[in-house]
Amino acid sequence: MHFHKYEKYWLTFGIGALVVFLLITGIMAFHNGSHPPSAKKTINYEQVDKQAPFDNPGVHKVTGKDWDYEVVVVASAFLYTPTVLEVPVDSKVKFIATTKDVVHGFGIAQTNINMMLEPGYISEYVTTVDKVGEYLIVCNEYCGVGHAQMSSMLKVVAKK
Ligand code: CUA
Repeated sequence: MHFHKYEKYWLTFGIGALVVFLLITGIMAFHNGSHPPSAKKTINYEQVDKQAPFDNPGVHKVTGKDWDYEVVVVASAFLYTPTVLEVPVDSKVKFIATTKDVVHGFGIAQTNINMMLEPGYISEYVTTVDKVGEYLIVCNEYCGVGHAQMSSMLKVVAKK
């Protein structure tokens, strides 16, 4: 088989770029131990139900913090606990979530919230919910046969 000189240059460049890319990704993941940026704290995933705040999942009003509500969610195959979350509009909310088994996702439709939940890690995200509505929460990480049915609902309601 005959390759033109420039084809050889491009093949070398292409394969070289691929090797460099895989090396960088590999070093970041295995040597530097990179994780999704929202997963900063660790937890024993076998004891999730016994450890605060996951021993009491749900929406909790808090005071003296930079946010108004803490929304604690436990993911497991193939559901979220609790299944419905309700917060008043214009609240600053901290989502705190983890998983009891495999990797799950926590994506809130129509928002930029999309966390990866890894066993052994706590994922957190602070945001202000500024529009009344019902937002579907879906799992964006393939987790098994029930993946497509895994969902819950965030209801942002008018202030009473
Ligand atoms: Cu949980 Cu996909």
